[in-house]
Amino acid sequence: MDLGLAGRHVLVTGASRGIGFACVQAFLAEGAKVTMLSRDETALCAAAQSLDAGGRVLWRAADLRDPASALAALESAEAAEAGAGFGPLDVLVNCAGAARRRPPDELDAAAWNDAMQAKFFSYIHIMSPAVQRMAARGAGCVVNVVGAGGKVANPTHLAGGAANAALLLASAGMAAAYARQGVRINALNPGQVATDRLRQRHEAEARLASLEGRPPPAAPGAALPLGRPAEPREIADMVVFLASPRASYVTGATIAMDGATTPMI
Ligand SMILES: NC(=O)c1ccc[n+]([C@@H]2O[C@H](COP(=O)([O-])OP(=O)(O)OC[C@H]3O[C@@H](n4cnc5c(N)ncnc54)[C@H](OP(=O)(O)O)[C@@H]3O)[C@@H](O)[C@H]2O)c1
Repeated sequence: MDLGLAGRHVLVTGASRGIGFACVQAFLAEGAKVTMLSRDETALCAAAQSLDAGGRVLWRAADLRDPASALAALESAEAAEAGAGFGPLDVLVNCAGAARRRPPDELDAAAWNDAMQAKFFSYIHIMSPAVQRMAARGAGCVVNVVGAGGKVANPTHLAGGAANAALLLASAGMAAAYARQGVRINALNPGQVATDRLRQRHEAEARLASLEGRPPPAAPGAALPLGRPAEPREIADMVVFLASPRASYVTGATIAMDGATTPMI
């Protein structure tokens, strides 16, 4: 299936590893040009150089918790003069999250605030100006990789889950607000995905189980309906489809991708 993404400019946040890196690979396979963004420039550069992408990859290091840095990175990615950037964005994919999982008793005001900075504002600080620019041009698309924890509360993920819930509302609301200006915005809720994040979650759950005197949890994914967590590339395949013109009537949607872990309608 031709997804119609060849030559499009895609900015992926959280691009140095995990789901974001898998998205970069998937968009490159479709012939897109990709700007990769995360904080650690060394890791970002190494990730970019591991790709066989010719001139179709650039990277920008920025901490998206800071709105000025987020805007500067966006402006620099969109700069077209002298090959500085790839020009106006066609697609923004948000994957830059780092909300720490903690047992509820470890949540103080700073931890709640950290979670909002790490997951909610790191998406909003780049999505908001990017969508305004797309709307001014009359075209664009955003895919927010959010998380099933925004719909179903988990005791070790209350602060991050609350940030996810806020993001889901912002995605749907902005999709409605900007639909007439040609901008589509969707959210994707993975369940468990086989990245470093899953290992950290497993460790937090083991800590909670130990505090509550319960046996340690089973290996990640063993109890899921499919018997395993999702692979990052499986999430990336859905992201690429949602970002493509083949999904032209999909906007304001929250797509569950938890392998039937929470079988709800
Ligand atoms: N893995 C899962 O099971 C799962 C499930 C549901 C939802 N999700 C969500 O999917 C997204 C990606 O998850 P993942 O597992 O792929 O995460 P990951 O492996 O921890 O990667 C996170 C990426 O975001 C970057 N990043 C973190 N904070 C940033 C910031 N403030 N500014 C810019 N870049 C930042 C990281 O690089 P630097 O540290 O160098 O900045 C890295 O590239 C996250 O939002 C996560 O909550 C994941």
